[in-house]
Amino acid sequence: MPISLLPPDTLRAIAEVRARNDAAAAGERPAAFVLTFGCQQNEADSEKMRGMAAEMGYRMTERPEEAGLILVNTCAIREHAEKKALSIIGQYKHLRAARPSLIIGVCGCMVAQPHRVEEFKLRYPYVDFTLDAAALHRLPEMVLARMAGGRREFPLPAYGPSDVPPVVEGMPIHRETKWRAWLSIMYGCNNFCSYCIVPHVRGRERSRRLADIEAEARALIVEGCRDITLLGQNVNSWGRMPDGSFPEGDFAALIGRLAELEGDFRLRFMTSHPKDASDALIETMARHEKIARHFHLPLQSGSDAVLARMNRRYTAEHYLGIVDRLRAAMPDITLTTDIIVGFPGETEEDFEATLDVLRRVRFDMIYSFIYSPRKGTPAAEYADQIPADVAHARFDRLIALQNEISFEKNKQAEGKTLRVLCDGEKVQGGETLRSGRTDGGKLVYFSGDARPGDVVQVKIERAEPFVLRGKIG
Ligand code: 5AD
Ligand code: SF4
Repeated sequence: MPISLLPPDTLRAIAEVRARNDAAAAGERPAAFVLTFGCQQNEADSEKMRGMAAEMGYRMTERPEEAGLILVNTCAIREHAEKKALSIIGQYKHLRAARPSLIIGVCGCMVAQPHRVEEFKLRYPYVDFTLDAAALHRLPEMVLARMAGGRREFPLPAYGPSDVPPVVEGMPIHRETKWRAWLSIMYGCNNFCSYCIVPHVRGRERSRRLADIEAEARALIVEGCRDITLLGQNVNSWGRMPDGSFPEGDFAALIGRLAELEGDFRLRFMTSHPKDASDALIETMARHEKIARHFHLPLQSGSDAVLARMNRRYTAEHYLGIVDRLRAAMPDITLTTDIIVGFPGETEEDFEATLDVLRRVRFDMIYSFIYSPRKGTPAAEYADQIPADVAHARFDRLIALQNEISFEKNKQAEGKTLRVLCDGEKVQGGETLRSGRTDGGKLVYFSGDARPGDVVQVKIERAEPFVLRGKIG
């Protein structure tokens, strides 16, 4: 797997932009505003964009109107995410008019699609460049080119469908909080589910090296991080080389090794594919209390016919088998999933099969989505697209069922004392409450003295459908 450090062009560009920003700063540094759409992987990429911006001499701001650099990290997973990004980017037109030196870059999944790149080039003249996720390290070059008065740049992805892009190590990371962190362990996806744009926009699967991941995890823990989420589009295939070999071990070995590091922290991981969720991983989780008792395992549909048309390569029965083994090994495990409703050809019977799996598994929480056709994916071409009103009605039924289940599951926590990582506070009815997450990732509001980053034991007094309430004790 090709691994490289930041290329010399990137380092030179960082130094030059920094010199220009230092010279122009006269008291106040120019500011960078980074807006993120989409998944945790994008959040993690945005932290690298902020890291590079900080190295280039920018301070961070939450106010686009005072920024000298605006970066929008986009998502292409559903049409809604794309439309929202386009509408917000449209609003930056007047910011550019008010401040001609403003640099605007559009990054991420949306701009790995040639038709979108073309659209930004032609219809958004105030967008200076686009940059897809596999080329993120080129950000400083793009900023420098614009500062130096060069042309607008709209590169298409540098890697074709069968190339494996290199893993670029050494991008600086600007994390907002010390106590919780994303840690990317792999990039890209080879699964090609028939609805999904990700393999098309993030390219072929590639893994970071064990030593690099371990060094990053160690550094985070030493700095006081309490909760690390290992990230990848399909973490279960971490370590797999293009030839199918696993020279550094597999994901179960990786997480087991990280769980042996010293310190009071929890490890979690996102996202898994049921076809790769191994018994070795379940055993490793059960053995290590530092691996959070939470498994997010996207089901997508409970109908075997739909799963086959989605190219998911497992059946509902196989999925239920994994759930049984997880619960046998860890009875208190939190289970969450992703469901798509209204996939082309989904019949009422197919949809009932999904509801049935929900009733059998009793997930703690689900993330549900109405199918959104994505240009260039096979499912977008299927003739039997589902009418919007049918999909919406099914979506509402799905949510109603899950709300009942989530509430019941939350009620099981009443009276228990749970380990909670405090991450903020909220004033409600004149009272200041702390907020935090359990090991299973559930939201808790609680009273008592705790600061963000503290790990506390909270006695759960009352469950609501989406939140637990309690007090330290
Ligand atoms: N339409 C709707 N939902 C989708 N997802 C992925 N692609 C699509 C699509 N085209 C959902 C899947 C995935 C989650 C991240 O987004 O459920 O697990
Ligand atoms: Fe994340 Fe997928 Fe959206 Fe890209 S398209 S931001 S990988 S959810």
